[in-house]
Amino acid sequence: MSILELQNVIKIYGEKEQTVHALRGIDLKIEKGDFLSIVGPSGSGKSTLLNIVGCLDTPTTGNVLYNGKSLASLSENQLSDYRKDNIAFIFQSYNLIPVLTVKENVELPLVIEKKFTKKEISEKAMKIIEMVGLKDMAHRLPGEISGGQEQRVAIARALVKNPLVVLADEPTANLDSKLSEEIISIMQKMNKDNNTTFIFSTHDHLVEKHAKRKIILKDGMIFSDERF
Ligand SMILES: Nc1ncnc2c1ncn2[C@@H]1O[C@H](COP(=O)(O)OP(=O)(O)O)[C@@H](O)[C@H]1O
Ligand SMILES: [Mg+2]
Repeated sequence: MSILELQNVIKIYGEKEQTVHALRGIDLKIEKGDFLSIVGPSGSGKSTLLNIVGCLDTPTTGNVLYNGKSLASLSENQLSDYRKDNIAFIFQSYNLIPVLTVKENVELPLVIEKKFTKKEISEKAMKIIEMVGLKDMAHRLPGEISGGQEQRVAIARALVKNPLVVLADEPTANLDSKLSEEIISIMQKMNKDNNTTFIFSTHDHLVEKHAKRKIILKDGMIFSDERF
């Protein structure tokens, strides 16, 4: 069974003459362990698609199924639990908390969750911080590291709960090609080691080149869907 499935998902923003058809009927099956890039010109619906998959937005019509179960059938609380337990977002603006250190930023999702002891939280955070190559920066503040390093912290924070699905909206948009390559290899390692599913949008050919599957969106529709 697909981990995620979109069935004829349509998203219309606005009303009357102001309507924008952001998605015009998306059918898509995402398998566990997919490393999927979503490509397409600005305005083609990439962010809308990711937001709907991540439950940050709901379709106007159509269904999103998770492990065969329709998300529309869940209550607000169940949906929020589902999102917290399974999905992580890597935002383009890093959204790091400036007064917390690198380590504290990465620990935050686990602190909020209240499932682990302080020691466990610290160990989990350090493990993932090492994985993204920031061991020596753990006690610095976001203002004391580079943009590329901030993005790696944001990735570490997204991955620390070992989510099933990671969504990233143009994760390398603000980075030069060397840093983009680094970020993508961290994502690839996580995909390989933990079978974490990645879905990310990009303009970036470098990133595209590493994907195992590529979807091209045009005008809110899937133009092509290729596996490599
Ligand atoms: N909140 C919104 N309200 C109205 N229109 C929106 C909103 N979000 C996106 N759109 C429109 O939907 C279309 C798809 O946008 P988006 O998903 O952001 O595309 P992309 O991420 O590929 O650039 C665009 O025409 C955009 O202007
Ligand atoms: Mg976008």
